[in-house]
Amino acid sequence: MSEIKKRRIQTSGALDASKTPEDNKIELSLRPKRLKDYIGQSKIKESLEIYIEAAKKRGESLDHILFYGPPGLGKTTLSGIIAAEMGVGIKITSGPAIEKPGEMAAILNNLKAGDVLFIDEIHRLNRQVEEVLYPAMEDFCIDIMIGKGPTARSIRLDLPRFTLIGATTRAGMLSAPLRDRFGMIHRMEFYDVDELKSIIQQSARVLNVEVDEAGAEEMARRSRGTPRIANRILKRVRDYAQVRYDGRITGEVAVTALDIMDVDKLGLDHTDRSLIMTMIERFSGGPVGLDTIAAAIGEDAGTIEDVYEPYLIKNGLINRTPRGRVVTETAYHHMGIQMGVQGVL
Ligand SMILES: Nc1ncnc2c1ncn2[C@@H]1O[C@H](COP(=O)(O)OP(=O)(O)OP(=O)(O)O)[C@@H](O)[C@H]1O
Ligand SMILES: [Mg+2]
Repeated sequence: MSEIKKRRIQTSGALDASKTPEDNKIELSLRPKRLKDYIGQSKIKESLEIYIEAAKKRGESLDHILFYGPPGLGKTTLSGIIAAEMGVGIKITSGPAIEKPGEMAAILNNLKAGDVLFIDEIHRLNRQVEEVLYPAMEDFCIDIMIGKGPTARSIRLDLPRFTLIGATTRAGMLSAPLRDRFGMIHRMEFYDVDELKSIIQQSARVLNVEVDEAGAEEMARRSRGTPRIANRILKRVRDYAQVRYDGRITGEVAVTALDIMDVDKLGLDHTDRSLIMTMIERFSGGPVGLDTIAAAIGEDAGTIEDVYEPYLIKNGLINRTPRGRVVTETAYHHMGIQMGVQGVL
């Protein structure tokens, strides 16, 4: 099992935005298929609309695109939508799935003109495989070695024009030559409450669940800015509403169910809170290094950095400083702790 998969299985709590096998099933049905149904990310959507229209008018393929940002914000969904809007096929693979340069060459060679090649976790491609991509992205060709030893020669194979869409939770881990070959680089943002509310209402229609305004708002507030979590919360709260109430999700039902799920008013779950509490209680609120925090709460440093920290930073609960992470006053307030009264335990 890959390291990331192992990590994800170990850490998939209620609010961990990483994908679980259960998500696979529901995501297929809840994924919007067209750009107009894709809620939020308005800046990205706007520029995509223009580029898609222009490329279609010229009869060309779209420039290569890189999406980066925390898990569950809709990178895969948006890539499928781009292919649908362009009216082309999409081939989906991921960085760790391609082990040899020959495999990458075969995938590229099988693409049809205009197709989208989607590579998830693109930062995990190995070096040799990545090198096959350079000429493919730039000049739409690959070099293949024929024969061995002194008679070996390389031949150049032309490829159809295609669009590579790469997705990663870590743009910083992409090599410079690869990053430079993307014509568009988009950072996915967390969603605001209104956007999440619309996503929840849209999903509720698909799942045939009745949700009132207050119910949708409460779930949206506690979804950690992430559509995947919003959909997951909706499903759990629906179960609760069916067993304990009449099936309708009202504000009251949502509050009760979410409290039972241990999701607080800001959408923080057990791990988020233990991270903040550990920083406060054991490190006087910081500054403290990422690896030290990771060891203290028994969590993987990469997971903290990719999955947990971005939302805490965005909400001003944690700050990154050159000397390490620090807990902010807002976080003390949220946890109901007075600043400066607790020392190192
Ligand atoms: N803008 C959106 N509008 C409506 N639903 C969305 C939107 N973005 C994501 N979703 C929903 O959230 C789910 C997760 O999205 P997706 O799988 O595209 O995330 P991701 O960024 O690719 O995550 P990962 O990094 O784990 O691969 C999808 O099933 C989809 O239903
Ligand atoms: Mg994805």
